[in-house]
Amino acid sequence: MHALIKKRLHAHRLKHLFRERKIRPQGLCFSSNDYLGLAQDPQMIAAFCEGAYRHGIGSTGSALVSGYSKPHRTLESAFADHVGRDRALLFSNGYMANAAILQALLGKQDIAFQDKLNHASLLDGTKLSGAQLKRYRHLDAAHLNELLEAHDSENKVIISDHVFSMGGDLAPIPALIQCAHQHAATLIIDDAHGFGVVDFPYSQSEVPILVCPLGKAFGGSGALVAGSHDLIEALVQFSRPYLFSTALSPALAHALHCALKLIQTEPWRREKLHTNIAYFKQLSTKMGLPFTPSITGIQMLPIGDNEKAEAISQSLIKRRLFVRAIRPPSVPEAALRITLSSRHEAPEIAFLLREIEALL
Ligand SMILES: Cc1ncc(COP(=O)(O)O)c(C=O)c1O
Repeated sequence: MHALIKKRLHAHRLKHLFRERKIRPQGLCFSSNDYLGLAQDPQMIAAFCEGAYRHGIGSTGSALVSGYSKPHRTLESAFADHVGRDRALLFSNGYMANAAILQALLGKQDIAFQDKLNHASLLDGTKLSGAQLKRYRHLDAAHLNELLEAHDSENKVIISDHVFSMGGDLAPIPALIQCAHQHAATLIIDDAHGFGVVDFPYSQSEVPILVCPLGKAFGGSGALVAGSHDLIEALVQFSRPYLFSTALSPALAHALHCALKLIQTEPWRREKLHTNIAYFKQLSTKMGLPFTPSITGIQMLPIGDNEKAEAISQSLIKRRLFVRAIRPPSVPEAALRITLSSRHEAPEIAFLLREIEALL
């Protein structure tokens, strides 16, 4: 095995696909998903410490054994109220939540219709379930309709990111709702990069399964899945990733409840983020930088060549601008993925864009 791994790693390096973990600096970061600046907010840190003192660090077990405590329940019910759903269920992370939903709700005879650029966890979750996977062209509801007409099963789901994680573009949710309705399919939306950033005005009957990973605008980690009483009960009873895994830290659950309250009561965070997005778009357009269209915190600049994308990222990091290159398989072609936050200031954004312009 050792020789095979060595060969594989070598080939990976030759294709300029080798990934390196870099310690994130304290300074200017344009690669984090901390859209509302909550990850290091003093109120969040205080809530985390208070949660740890009151409830401990470790949950001590699976939620069905000893891992479920008061902060978990409080967070679940506050989130369900916030998004207008019957109930919500807390998972340890978004990857697990997506895997858990699909594994619990689909079987071999079922079909999952997915946008081609959906997050990897949604594709992997379908594999875990054994269901058939049909991928429609990115954002193309007409193609989805064709696939739905050509393939049928009693139990079928349509799955899409709301805000796509690499390009920041938006799914055509009203058209997906219509497709789901027309073909008696269940719609699942992953709102990882949309929650707290863009509105989600869709009811439980329009979007029966809503997934919200908590490592983005919430500034923590974990994931909440919201839907009907029966749906959530089915996840509790049947989802193996939920049953056979230690529940999220109660200290973190307490801090995440604080995050939800801050999202509700401090609208300036979202307003500042949108001011930054507008400024970024205005300036990058003026400079002629070919960013792909996005009204969200994710702004993508296609580069194409893996080596070039990595070289630009390295140069930006040397200038104390933390921007990572995104390469296949995360995206079809190498790109710079810039993420904006309410923590950024206009001169920092201008500095970043000037440096990128100089490096292209
Ligand atoms: C759209 C989407 N869904 C799910 C996930 C997985 O969430 P987590 O990082 O909490 O595992 C991510 C990113 O990480 C994502 O971008």
